[in-house]
Amino acid sequence: MEIRKLVISLLVLGWVQFTLSSGLAGEEPADTLYDESLLPVYTLPQIIQTEDTPAATLNKWQSTRRAEVLALFEEHIYGQVPGGSVSSRLSLVEDDSMALDGLARRYQWVLSLSSPKQPDRTVEINVLGYFPAGAGDAVPVFMGLNFFGNQTIHSDPEILMSKAWMRDRPGMGIVGNRATEESRGAAHSRWPVEMILKRGYGLITAYYGEIDPDSYDFNFSDGVHPLFYREGQERPEEDEWGAIAAWAWGLEQIRSALAEEQIVVPTRVAVIGHSRLGKTALWAGARYENFGMVVSNDSGCGGAALYRRCYGERIHHILPPVGYWFCRKHAQYAHAESNLPVDQHMLLALVAPRGLYVASATEDRWCDPKGEFLAAKAAAEIYSLYGKDWEAPVDLPPPDHPVAGPIGYHLRSGKHDITPYDWGLYLDFA
Ligand code: GCU
Repeated sequence: MEIRKLVISLLVLGWVQFTLSSGLAGEEPADTLYDESLLPVYTLPQIIQTEDTPAATLNKWQSTRRAEVLALFEEHIYGQVPGGSVSSRLSLVEDDSMALDGLARRYQWVLSLSSPKQPDRTVEINVLGYFPAGAGDAVPVFMGLNFFGNQTIHSDPEILMSKAWMRDRPGMGIVGNRATEESRGAAHSRWPVEMILKRGYGLITAYYGEIDPDSYDFNFSDGVHPLFYREGQERPEEDEWGAIAAWAWGLEQIRSALAEEQIVVPTRVAVIGHSRLGKTALWAGARYENFGMVVSNDSGCGGAALYRRCYGERIHHILPPVGYWFCRKHAQYAHAESNLPVDQHMLLALVAPRGLYVASATEDRWCDPKGEFLAAKAAAEIYSLYGKDWEAPVDLPPPDHPVAGPIGYHLRSGKHDITPYDWGLYLDFA
């Protein structure tokens, strides 16, 4: 009896540790594979069957195959956005043309989303924008969601503080599931605002939890999912969207609302994200073709890493803590990655011929840097069809040796993070 109790407590402890670690870093499950010699032998699904000539293959890609591949990702991984119309209204809350000591023009808006299906419900997303001061016509921008509210990206005291629920992170000033004053600027190292502005780009950000709270507890009763529910529906259908698809959809709502107001040029918006938000940026870029460039920073499993390598995080690891990021059907592929009709090189191929940048970090084995590189390399096949050849290195490039062509890749020395070094390379590539 005592031994049983001990075993149960150890299991529970392991579970809690893993669940916590899945919030960001930490202990990893014992079955994680980090030895290349133990990985399964795999064959990647073909992105496209080639025709007689490259022109015929490209034609096939554009006319049918691209849509088929996209539909496979919707059905088996991220889920479909249900049909139905949503109305969106962008209200300007604040506008200061002398922000950041005159370096920037700062805008703050609220994007309100509502649907005729759910007349009592409105989702409000606070959007923050910085543009180079006096830049005149709309400049190209980077758009990315943030983890703990707009006020974390810079110490600028005028940034409105998010009032939304967020995961606790006392070290960053998030206490009792709410942001406190302490959180101002807490993520500034991830958002080198001045550098972005000085390079002539604007920056748009919003808190991802205002689109859909990142938690199992809410069981899809909050955020944008319910806007689409039929009467009596309480959660998405098996092949309908999880949280990643909701965050990506939210990014597209922000992009299109800003484009409509002529604040951004519709196709000059680069979508960027780190970690789970890197997965989100990739799906947004694949699904919504108006994004002109896509940056995946340490996106790992469900992002740029090849599922079939089974290195680092795998589907059966990601499902217990955050399975709701995906459609429910994705669970079928736990321990069965090779049954997936796609792999992540095909997700990256969906970005072609637009600019794509994939980045990894040396101490981020959980995200499988090599799997991310190999996916990018395999996606190059579709870029070639567009006449954009990438002379990619045979092997994973050494740390801090970026390689760029139509697809950019670098392996930064250091941990799972997004740093000014990474941003500098994204700005060079843009
Ligand atoms: C966990 C999770 C990853 C995810 C990361 C994050 O580590 O396992 O898949 O990318 O959290 O988003 O921070």
